[in-house]
Amino acid sequence: MIEFIRGLPKAELHLHIEGTLEPQMAFDLAKRNGVALPYANVEALTQAYNFSDLQSFLNLYYACMDVLRRSEDFADLASAYLQRAAADGVQHVEMFFDPQAHVNRGIPLRVVIEGLSSAASAARERYGISVLLIACFLRDRPATEAMSTLEALAEHRDAIHGVGLDSAELGHPPSDFAEVFAAAGEMGLHRVAHAGEEGPPDYIWQALDVLGVERVDHGIRAAEDPALLRRLAVDKIPLTVCPLSNVRLKCVENLSDHPLPALLDAGVVVTVNSDDPAYFGGYVVDNYVALQRAFDLDTATLEQLARNSLDASFRGDVRGS
Ligand code: ADE
Ligand code: ZN
Repeated sequence: MIEFIRGLPKAELHLHIEGTLEPQMAFDLAKRNGVALPYANVEALTQAYNFSDLQSFLNLYYACMDVLRRSEDFADLASAYLQRAAADGVQHVEMFFDPQAHVNRGIPLRVVIEGLSSAASAARERYGISVLLIACFLRDRPATEAMSTLEALAEHRDAIHGVGLDSAELGHPPSDFAEVFAAAGEMGLHRVAHAGEEGPPDYIWQALDVLGVERVDHGIRAAEDPALLRRLAVDKIPLTVCPLSNVRLKCVENLSDHPLPALLDAGVVVTVNSDDPAYFGGYVVDNYVALQRAFDLDTATLEQLARNSLDASFRGDVRGS
């Protein structure tokens, strides 16, 4: 079954590149850059991957990012992920990154974008994989900061394909970012947002109706709202679902409680993704395999999920991809 899943042509549409920082690479980069990590060794860091909710994960995720200092660091991080993704049958990646998490600790935006873009070009040459960059705004930072970030991104317009919204969801509704998403739309950028991961179905409605998103990241709490399920199905708004993440962050208790079957039954376009694979115990194929085992998915459903990921991607915009 693993080989069947690996062989399915697929896209990964919900992947935070900073969330691919494996513990060993974190220590290697810490050494290279003379940065002290607040953990004694790889084992101690790995032991800390015992999250109680989204915020407990984000605290560690932002702390580990401190090892990313130079363009080479971002390039090495992205190259390691893309090599793995290509081996997993991923043909196309829409790669999230968090500009504010780097700029706010003194790393120029140019350094981040140059590193990621160079890894993307190398991976296209080596594996034929295509990569689009999506810059996510941190929703637990002020909307004014998101707007200045968008202005800074405008200077790298050619390298950026879309914008997203991530970080701590509860208490930070999408509507706070109406203006910045409207401005991004005027720049011709694609729009996506995390909504309904921990937050209520109303945040998904806001992402659709206020931010005008084309895809919803996670969106699992849509399963609580039949009218919302109908809206997603009728308008063919894809959800980028990340099952292992949902279990690790305790959005669902067990994988068997995951709303995937309800979403599929409602006719929603579901895609399978890894979110932050280094932290959540699996890359994209591991997520498919876990779902297959939990719900005894047949090969036609697995093929449909993989096809959905390619159909829901923005790659049709790019000539030759
Ligand atoms: N940033 C990285 N991973 C995230 C997630 N699962 N939810 C919100 N923000 C994130
Ligand atoms: Zn995410």
